[in-house]
Amino acid sequence: MKVHELQEKILKLKKETNTAILAHSYQAREIVEIADYTGDSYKLSVDATKTNADNILFCGVHFMAETAKMLSPEKRVFLANKNAGCPMAEQMDRELISQIREQDPERTVVAYINTTASLKTVCDVCVTSSSALKIVKAIENDKILFIPDCNLGSWVKKQLPEKDIKLLHGGCPTHAAVTVAEVKKIKEEHPDALFLVHPECVPEVVALADYIGSTSGIMDFARKSEYKKFIIGTETSIAEHLQYECPEKIFYPVTKDIVCRNMKITTLPDVYNALVRISDNNSPEYNSCEIIMEQDLISQARKCIDEMIRLGG
Ligand code: 13P
Ligand code: SF4
Repeated sequence: MKVHELQEKILKLKKETNTAILAHSYQAREIVEIADYTGDSYKLSVDATKTNADNILFCGVHFMAETAKMLSPEKRVFLANKNAGCPMAEQMDRELISQIREQDPERTVVAYINTTASLKTVCDVCVTSSSALKIVKAIENDKILFIPDCNLGSWVKKQLPEKDIKLLHGGCPTHAAVTVAEVKKIKEEHPDALFLVHPECVPEVVALADYIGSTSGIMDFARKSEYKKFIIGTETSIAEHLQYECPEKIFYPVTKDIVCRNMKITTLPDVYNALVRISDNNSPEYNSCEIIMEQDLISQARKCIDEMIRLGG
């Protein structure tokens, strides 16, 4: 079946089942095209609260669907491919952070949203890459423990020297793999291009940037800029989406390897099958999963998401 034929079927089923599709911008073009909401982690968590649909189908990774469920517990929330997890979200658990809190109880624990709901229950406030700086600045306590991404944490720390920010060693394997040598090489090849980078990259790479920001921040900057050429230091789909949107400009992914395999597990047929599952009253043979969470876990973990929306809104 051709891509647009499958997209047509998806649009029809989406309407029949009253489902809103939320797709992170790292999803492939053919998925972004049929989504009701697209954007970075922060935008999607706000969008999840806005939709009137009965069902939310998430094309992204597990922690994002979990966040959507916590924000809209009355809705049924599905992840299009049940194997789509974020390795960073699994790097630290509740037991480890509870122990550290006991040893150093004065610190406010700031968790990147790329964490499990279980870990969020022992954190004070969540951040996303677009809101981290604003939120850490707004926290009254100067003593902070920032988890799990030490690269995003280093970027925040550098800009807020008045805060005492402790970091742990975690991070995104996709962004952290970009090297200074790779950046220097592509900059030499395209000396008139601006380098736009995500703060999940290592500090030495971030130091070479003309602009640092979240996925949506990078996209907005490139759309509005008067420059014509850009080296994109985040997941390769962003260069591709921007190239479609702004055909008069040129976008180079910083390396061809900056691909998040976890985000890319989800395919258009997965989206279709998940909708069939929703319309078929949950026939179990498909690869999607419904996010089921205990009310207790939702209430405990949601506190730090509500705090993120309060401080970052
Ligand atoms: P943002 O969506 O906040 O830019 O984060 C990027 C990312 O790696 C999502 O998993
Ligand atoms: Fe996780 Fe990195 Fe993939 Fe985002 S890009 S989902 S942080 S592994």
